[in-house]
Amino acid sequence: MRKKITKSTLINMKRRGEKIAAITSYDFLSTKIIDESGVDLILVGDSLGMVILGYDNTLPVTMEEIIHHLKAVSRAKPGAMVAGDLPFMSYQASVEDAVRNAGRLVKDGGAESVKLEGGQQYVPVIEAILKASIPVLGHLGLTPQSLHQFGGYKVQGKDRASADRLFNDALCLERAGCFAIVLECIPWQLAKRITEAVSIPTIGIGAGPYCDGQVLVVNDMLGIHVHPLPRFVKKYEDMGSRIGKAVSAYVDDVKNGRFPEPEHSYSSGTGENDNPKELHEMGEDAG
Ligand code: KIV
Repeated sequence: MRKKITKSTLINMKRRGEKIAAITSYDFLSTKIIDESGVDLILVGDSLGMVILGYDNTLPVTMEEIIHHLKAVSRAKPGAMVAGDLPFMSYQASVEDAVRNAGRLVKDGGAESVKLEGGQQYVPVIEAILKASIPVLGHLGLTPQSLHQFGGYKVQGKDRASADRLFNDALCLERAGCFAIVLECIPWQLAKRITEAVSIPTIGIGAGPYCDGQVLVVNDMLGIHVHPLPRFVKKYEDMGSRIGKAVSAYVDDVKNGRFPEPEHSYSSGTGENDNPKELHEMGEDAG
């Protein structure tokens, strides 16, 4: 059994210069496998809307959907810290909504922390959630819930003014009490500047090598996807085509009577047709 990772573990990792490995997960079995690989932080991200539920973007994701998947992930009792994403419109309208919904992720879903997107303007929300004793993970840069505001999935913080705004946002999140900040799709120079300026870990996704840690969407890094992947994804496997090949072989076997074979079949045990070979042949005749 792994030692439980908490927000203090992650902050201490930054102090020691130890990199943090984070990944998304959405179900029980994958979480069991992922956790054994020694990952530090598991995020039940609203990316589940796109990679699990087939939405075009993360905006339609509901609290119920996040909680449903959070429950499955937390049932795996991972040693990694579990963060649950606050979906679009679960924290934007009021501080009360934010605290209530963050509480639901912890109480109903089993999250050990919550993540929300946004900078300085969300400081009151972050402070209120922290008052309810819920650790908060910040998220800056290409925050997908602001897709329409950005006019598409574009690298953020490329010019001096927007880089300075994001830098200031990071300082605000640190001051507000976030235990770490996800930096998504920003130039590596800006991510480095932020990482060096804050005492809490930065966890990059498309933010270069100088962050204190990295996060990837598990389906992307395993190669289970239908849309082209962003450049920042490193594909560690091509599971999509491997699954396709395996299922095609199964379909072919079924259609050509090669499956099930004797070892996949049960005998009644009466002695009459106990020979699995005979049983198999009988099955073929009957078919
Ligand atoms: O929703 C998500 O999975 C995320 C990560 C990609 C950081 O926000």
